[in-house]
Amino acid sequence: MLDRRKFIQGLGATAFASATALLNPDRARAVLQTVAAHRGQARDLAADEDFWRRIQQAFTVDRSIINLNNGGVSPAPAIVQQAMKQHLDYSHKAPAYTMWRVLEPQQESVRSSLARCFDCSPEELALTRNASESMQILQNGIDLQPGDEVLATTHDYPRMLNTWKQRERRDGIVLRQFSLPIPAEDPQLIVDLYEQHISPRTRAILISHVVYLTGQIMPVRAVCALGRRKGIPVFVDGAHSLGHFTFTLADLDCEFFGSSLHKWLTAPHGTGMLYVRKERIGDIWPLQAAEESKDEDIRKFEEIGTHPAANTLAIAEAISFYRGIGPERKEERLRFLRNRWAERLKVSDRVRLHTSLKPGRSCAIATMQVEGIPSGALAKHLWKEHKILVVAIKHDDFEGIRVAPNVYTSLDEIDYFSETMERIIRNGID
Ligand SMILES: Cc1ncc(COP(=O)(O)O)c(C=O)c1O
Repeated sequence: MLDRRKFIQGLGATAFASATALLNPDRARAVLQTVAAHRGQARDLAADEDFWRRIQQAFTVDRSIINLNNGGVSPAPAIVQQAMKQHLDYSHKAPAYTMWRVLEPQQESVRSSLARCFDCSPEELALTRNASESMQILQNGIDLQPGDEVLATTHDYPRMLNTWKQRERRDGIVLRQFSLPIPAEDPQLIVDLYEQHISPRTRAILISHVVYLTGQIMPVRAVCALGRRKGIPVFVDGAHSLGHFTFTLADLDCEFFGSSLHKWLTAPHGTGMLYVRKERIGDIWPLQAAEESKDEDIRKFEEIGTHPAANTLAIAEAISFYRGIGPERKEERLRFLRNRWAERLKVSDRVRLHTSLKPGRSCAIATMQVEGIPSGALAKHLWKEHKILVVAIKHDDFEGIRVAPNVYTSLDEIDYFSETMERIIRNGID
């Protein structure tokens, strides 16, 4: 059995290597160059710990904590932190000049490079502060009349549901919701559920690309096609998808998409993006007013007053880190880490997986429940006794703990989590 003290000491050695990468960002760049030179197949590389150790060391995480909550927000690699600090230092030299006149115009190249990741035109991509802002631009920016209906599931993100609920109180619209099967194994069944709940008054559909409760990947393309057939705009909440697994605009064929960049793209905290198809820009009001000449300009969604340029510009460094790893390699590694614990623990007849492990239905995030142990108490125990960070999920339909490793997570950490869980399943948490 792995001794906890030895394990944490082992983590300390890795933390030291990470700290070295922070002190010497050139070293972190060298890591990326080595990675770029590596020509292995993504699947073969997923289990190659020597390869991934180099990526792990590009981060400055505290390895005395086993952070398996990378769904909420992710640490950024040292080079991203460093870029942000440099831009911030420069901003403060004479902000009215250095920040407004020098740095802010540079965000156009960030727009272009993010647009290349999503494979859309830069003229369709706005830089926002997070997915919440992106989605609220859409949800509050569309004209709706009293009695109009909007459709969502009970598994969408609470803030996005609250946005519709506020419009119910403010504008007299009606939010219709339905619940999803757990786990959701059959994409066609999900599309049918959306179709069944559309009424003649439905004016907008909200869909999560990845369900925050379970990590379930939703059939976004088919639901967007359904919306188009019925003339209903579909707002895709991609908070958890961009930078997590590989897809582009062509795969979704959507008109509206919002994401956070501080989750899976490992960009600075407080960064997000909004895609709006060119011909639909004029249909959405910005959250903060912009001049009329900008009605058809995607930049109207960025009219938020004075804000730091440093966060936005350092997105460029996060994109280069992401491309350096390679999106396919990242996706394969994340699935490998997820399968490593999920396949091991699901052998127990007391473990219920609430996430489908079928190809294409989930990636890094999965949610499990141990029958007989309340999930809130289990999450507290993991933290208090083992310094393992997971999220307790409590929903009307189910409960569980959500586990989300990232590229900096080591196999040791995953195995320590699995071993701890096996002991808890055997002995309980008292
Ligand atoms: C599905 C979904 N939408 C929106 C958000 C909001 O993201 P942020 O807090 O980065 O705005 C989250 C956050 O976890 C989420 O899971």
